[in-house]
Amino acid sequence: MKFSLVAVLAAAANTAFAFPGFDAAKQCFDFTHGEHKFVAPGPGDLRGVCPGLNSMANHGYIPHNGIATYQQLVNASTDLFGTDTDISHLLAAYGVSLSGSGDVDHMSIGGPPGDRAPITEELLRPVFGLSSTHNNFESDASPMRGDLYEKYLSPQKHHHQINLLTNHRNSNGIPDGKVNYSLPILAEMRAERMNQSIANNKDVFFSPFSGTIVQTAAHSFIFQLFANRTEKSPEGILDRKTLKTAYAMETPGHERLPDYWCKRGENLNIAQFNIDNLPTFKKYPDLLHKVVGGNEGAVNTFKSVNLAQLTNGTFPNFEFLLQDNNYACLGLFQAVYHAPLFLEKMYANITKANGLISEQVPLFAYLNCPKVAPFGDELFKQYPGWNRSFTWDEWKT
Ligand code: HEM
Repeated sequence: MKFSLVAVLAAAANTAFAFPGFDAAKQCFDFTHGEHKFVAPGPGDLRGVCPGLNSMANHGYIPHNGIATYQQLVNASTDLFGTDTDISHLLAAYGVSLSGSGDVDHMSIGGPPGDRAPITEELLRPVFGLSSTHNNFESDASPMRGDLYEKYLSPQKHHHQINLLTNHRNSNGIPDGKVNYSLPILAEMRAERMNQSIANNKDVFFSPFSGTIVQTAAHSFIFQLFANRTEKSPEGILDRKTLKTAYAMETPGHERLPDYWCKRGENLNIAQFNIDNLPTFKKYPDLLHKVVGGNEGAVNTFKSVNLAQLTNGTFPNFEFLLQDNNYACLGLFQAVYHAPLFLEKMYANITKANGLISEQVPLFAYLNCPKVAPFGDELFKQYPGWNRSFTWDEWKT
């Protein structure tokens, strides 16, 4: 059954109040001692663009050197942050395969792992790690990282953006004890970041996956996965101190969780992720038309991709994304369908890397996504940002 936009948004608003109870035994962590006490990265340890992964490494949920296996990534996301099976497996599978893993199992959470990660596959280019996955995973208009093509000449500098969120106008002037970086604040920031990128990055580009899943999650995960839960606030509060700690504002790479911290009560799945993000488009309707498209080689030349043409009419327009789970569905479909375009440039034989991604498809069956006829990448080729994603020029020294 399809819902009207109003009904969908009303349902989303109602769901926001449906929080489960609070169970300290299951949700809370004491990081003051023991195997999961914070340990800062040493000179040889890899850290990258994802504050969640950096925290996992610094708290010993994945190896401290920043090279983790697929299963370690799945377990750490679930155990530490409460992502549900579909999200944990999607992130881990996509990360391992698209980072150009030497054995399609180990992934560097940062840059090139060198000889610290096994190589058993025949590779067409060196292993560059998760940070190198621009436009196939890592995206433009991230909350706190600058766009790769915007102003940074080297991947090392493709790191911390200014303190965008803490300086954000909605939190300025609010005392530490009162601020809460909740989903509406993050949605406002997302709209702002998108416009900043369009105005400053001539090659900004959002594929369906990077626009509807990655850039979206990069914003909503900040609250949904970093917020601290308490008996009084089971829905979570993300205060300024927790945010700054989680993002290692002072020392990039030192991302950590507060000494005493409680994760979400109910695991976050893709359906909830989809619902969480729909109200954004009620407040910022033009943002919806920017989730797939890009600049055409000059700033402020943004052109949306024609969704009807891209999907052979299955997704007739952007408004269709607001029905059911369609918003996430479009991104998931492209993630699976276009992965080989990137993998073919990394692996002599893509069977294993592509298999790791396609094995996850049954996990999304419950979303009842529309059946999309396969689509090509012709419509993307007008965007320099899409074409540049296949060169990895920034990673070749
Ligand atoms: C295997 C698991 C994971 C993988 C492979 C992964 C990968 C990534 C990648 C590639 C990005 C860059 C996206 C962008 O450019 O905006 C990213 C960003 C981000 N990730 Fe993860 N991630 C994982 C798990 C998590 C978890 C569990 C959290 C929990 C908090 C998290 C929080 C974030 C946030 C908040 C950002 C945005 C960073 C920014 O401000 O730019 N991730 N992640």
